This record gives sequence, structure tokens and C-alpha cells, in this order.
Amino acid sequence: MEVIIVKDNQEAGTVAANIIAERIKQNPKIVLGLATGSTPITTYQTLVKKCQEDNLDFSRITTFNLDEYKGLLPTHEQSYRYFMNQNLFDHININKAQTFIPSGIDLQDPEQYDNSIESAGGIDLQLLGLGVNGHVGFNEPGTSFDSKTAVVDLAQSTISSNSRFFSTKEEVPTQAVSMGLASIMNAKEILLIATGSNKAEAVYHLVKGKVTEQWPCSILQKHSNTTIIIDKKAASLLE
Ligand code: F6R
Repeated sequence: MEVIIVKDNQEAGTVAANIIAERIKQNPKIVLGLATGSTPITTYQTLVKKCQEDNLDFSRITTFNLDEYKGLLPTHEQSYRYFMNQNLFDHININKAQTFIPSGIDLQDPEQYDNSIESAGGIDLQLLGLGVNGHVGFNEPGTSFDSKTAVVDLAQSTISSNSRFFSTKEEVPTQAVSMGLASIMNAKEILLIATGSNKAEAVYHLVKGKVTEQWPCSILQKHSNTTIIIDKKAASLLE
């Protein structure tokens, strides 16, 4: 696991976007795995700039997002489809038909999502954030390392943390559809970003902790091509 320590989230976004842009140039038909949340927003802003100012070409790429809230329509302002359109897809020359996000509504056969990823040739580069409790995607502590895409229960701490985006507590989804840990580990390369002191404990378990399902992120120690970009605050327990 390569660890890159940066000053803050802004710099993390620049470093991550530079890596992603490099990979797109090397392989214009790359399959990217994408994350939502606060952390990757600066990465997406930098990618938008690279497209608009430097003609970085997204026209032939395919993307698969990690997760979606159960019950939210793509048009809901808190859905992850809406987030991706607002923060990235609406501002770059991507073919939206080639952007995939698990459906939060049609929950018949969530594992079909893994088949779609496989049919696209697998994920070349997976971007990840990190939950305070060590979740990746919405794979909460206790999730099997063998998990594939599934409907999952969100931990109470995740529900509380997400409540900042909803006007009432009752509206905050308690379940999501998420790629599993095995789905994520199948990616050929992984790029995880974590910034802020509230991520320091999870970063410790990600880099130095025992590999245990109690800290889902710890499975990434077993991945042969993972880079993590963390700021000084998130790195504070690594010394
Ligand atoms: C988002 C996702 C989550 C977030 C994590 C961190 O698609 O799968 O694992 O990456 O909850 O969220 P932020 O970046 O808001 O701290």
C-alpha cells in the first residue's frame, strides 16, 4: 500500500485527479469506480477543470459508482445519481449511458451489478472514501470480506452522519445498495482518499491494524495495487 501524505483535502483532490487523469490518458476506455460523499468533491472539481481547460477526454470511459440509498429516485436531491450529475457528469464530456449507479428502487437482483462490471471488463481504477467507522462503500463493520453487491443496513453512526444532508431525521435512509468488499477488491487498482482528524482512527486500521471484518477498510492491506491519499490530520495516528 502506497501512502501519500498531503496538506489538506484540496491538495488530496489535486493529487487524486492527477493520478486519474494519467490513467485516462493511458487508457481512454478506462473503467472507473467512483465514490460520493464530501471527500472526493475536490477531486471531481479538479477533473472538471482538466476536461474544460486541458481537454481531458472522458467520452469513451465507463463508470460504476459504489452505492446508492435504498428508496431514493435518481431525481432525489440526495440520491447519489443526482450527486454525480451535479458534481461531475454534467460538466464533462462523458456519455451518461456509460455511467452506472446501483438502483435504489429496483432491488430484485443487486448482484447483477457485479455481472455488469465484469461484462465491462472489470474496474481498472476504483476511487474510495473512508467512513469514520472504517466502512468502504457502505460495507459497515461486520460485513463479510466475501460480500458482493447487496442491500445493506447502514450503521447508526453512518445514519447520524448522513442526517446533515436531509431536512428531517425521518427522511434519512437506513439502508443502501452497495458494492461488496469482494466487488471492490476485484478492482485492478484502488485509490482511497481520507482527510480530517475524524478519519484518523479508521486510517490507522486501514494501514496498520489487524485485518478484521470489524474494520472493513483493513481488507485493502491484501490488495496489491492500492494508494491512499491522506492529509496530516487523518495520518496523525500512524507515527
Ligand atoms: C460514498 C461511500 C462512503 C463514503 C464515506 C465517507 O460513495 O461509499 O463510503 O466514502 O462514508 O464519506 P465522506 O467523504 O462524506 O466523509
